[in-house]
Amino acid sequence: MYATGNRLIFYLGILVVLMSCEARGPPWVSRRVDERQTARLGRTVRLPCPVEGDPPPLILWVKDGRNVNQGYSRYRVLKQSLKIKEVEMEDAGVYICRVTNGFGSIALNFTLIVIDDAVVTQNKPPPVAEPNAENILQDPTGQPWVKPRFSQPTKMRRRVLEQPVGSSVRLKCLASGNPPPAISWWKDHTRLVPPRQGKRPQWTLTLKNLQPQDSAKYTCHVSNAAGHINATYKVDVIERTNSKPILTGTHPVNTTVQFGGTASFQCKVHSDVKPVIQWLKRVDPGTEGRYNSTLEVGGQHFVVLPTGDVWSRPDGSYLNKLAIVKAREEDAGMYICLGANTMGYSFRSAYLTVQLGRLMNNISLSFFF
Ligand SMILES: *[C@@H]1O[C@H](CO)[C@@H](O)[C@H](O)[C@H]1NC(C)=O
Ligand SMILES: *[C@@H]1O[C@H](CO)[C@@H](O)[C@H](O)[C@H]1NC(C)=O
Ligand SMILES: *[C@@H]1O[C@H](CO)[C@@H](O)[C@H](O)[C@H]1NC(C)=O
Ligand SMILES: *[C@@H]1O[C@H](CO)[C@@H](O)[C@H](O)[C@H]1NC(C)=O
Ligand SMILES: *[C@@H]1O[C@H](CO)[C@@H](O)[C@H](O)[C@H]1NC(C)=O
Repeated sequence: MYATGNRLIFYLGILVVLMSCEARGPPWVSRRVDERQTARLGRTVRLPCPVEGDPPPLILWVKDGRNVNQGYSRYRVLKQSLKIKEVEMEDAGVYICRVTNGFGSIALNFTLIVIDDAVVTQNKPPPVAEPNAENILQDPTGQPWVKPRFSQPTKMRRRVLEQPVGSSVRLKCLASGNPPPAISWWKDHTRLVPPRQGKRPQWTLTLKNLQPQDSAKYTCHVSNAAGHINATYKVDVIERTNSKPILTGTHPVNTTVQFGGTASFQCKVHSDVKPVIQWLKRVDPGTEGRYNSTLEVGGQHFVVLPTGDVWSRPDGSYLNKLAIVKAREEDAGMYICLGANTMGYSFRSAYLTVQLGRLMNNISLSFFF
């Protein structure tokens, strides 16, 4: 009885084993994977997720707690891996591959470390390599190729430069990559000959004693076997016209202010060089004695008012504002904005009227009640 019983269990066992081969169940990991993965900047990396299952499982990738979705344009979820191309520094992080079918789920954790080869290999001799494909190639020293990239983008923010005649300017395009990239400079569509052949790459183009004919678009082309980048600067050489300042716009304009209120006058001055902007107020005849010092111009007396900051604007003009706070009766009168440079001066005037109307109303109301 026992013998037949054992045999029965034995057969049942085989049956279970045979059945389990076809059995549907939770997904499983088909091979061991390293939890620590490394990628090289600019290259392509595949994070493995060797998971199988029946029914075929769904794979969801999570990076630093967020689902990898369509927004991750450089990421592609493949059947058993996550492919990231043109790896950037911010791709480093904790990745989880979450695999689910109807019977269960498993998760694999990874830490991705991104290595910047440009930093590591900067001092190695330039290896010779044939440019035939991107990213996945390695140079003969075993270092992977890295497309060039500008290593000081903050020094390249100003791309439109207005320079006075005779001035100098330095255009920068410092870049890194592997193999070490080469740089060439172009003025519009003409290649500029480097000052000394065979020397270090000319990461900075210096233009000295600028003349009007130097106005152009200057482009740096940086390339190595893995790729190419460029950047363009527009240089405008501005001729000094040696002229006195011009007051532009409509300001200052006649202004009316309530007693105790605040008024302001503006003055916009065009000048090739930074002008001096000065506000003057005409002194009513007979009151000169109130002021420590006055200017006399054409029989009229003026008092010089303190001037605030002069703002330079991108269009080459300069702006200044005069504020009159807590306006009193004696603030009324003629104000003059004077713009001066070494070539001469220009001025404009406007009147301030201080209204006592509301005060009157107050008084009359007081009388009324
Ligand atoms: C994976 O990470 C999660 C959350 O960080 C953790 O709960 C889990 O234990 C980790 N699994 C493995 C296999 O390390
Ligand atoms: C310069 O770079 C841009 C991409 O930033 C590219 O579209 C363009 O073709 C490049 N110009 C040249 C002349 O290679
Ligand atoms: C400004 O006021 C003065 C004095 O009241 C007047 O002569 C002048 O015409 C006014 N200017 C404008 C543009 O209204
Ligand atoms: C005028 O001069 C006196 C004494 O030198 C000084 O206290 C006062 O602040 C000056 N006033 C102005 C408006 O400069
Ligand atoms: C009018 O009177 C009120 C209350 O007495 C005061 O707060 C206000 O500042 C006065 N207005 C003017 C223009 O003086």
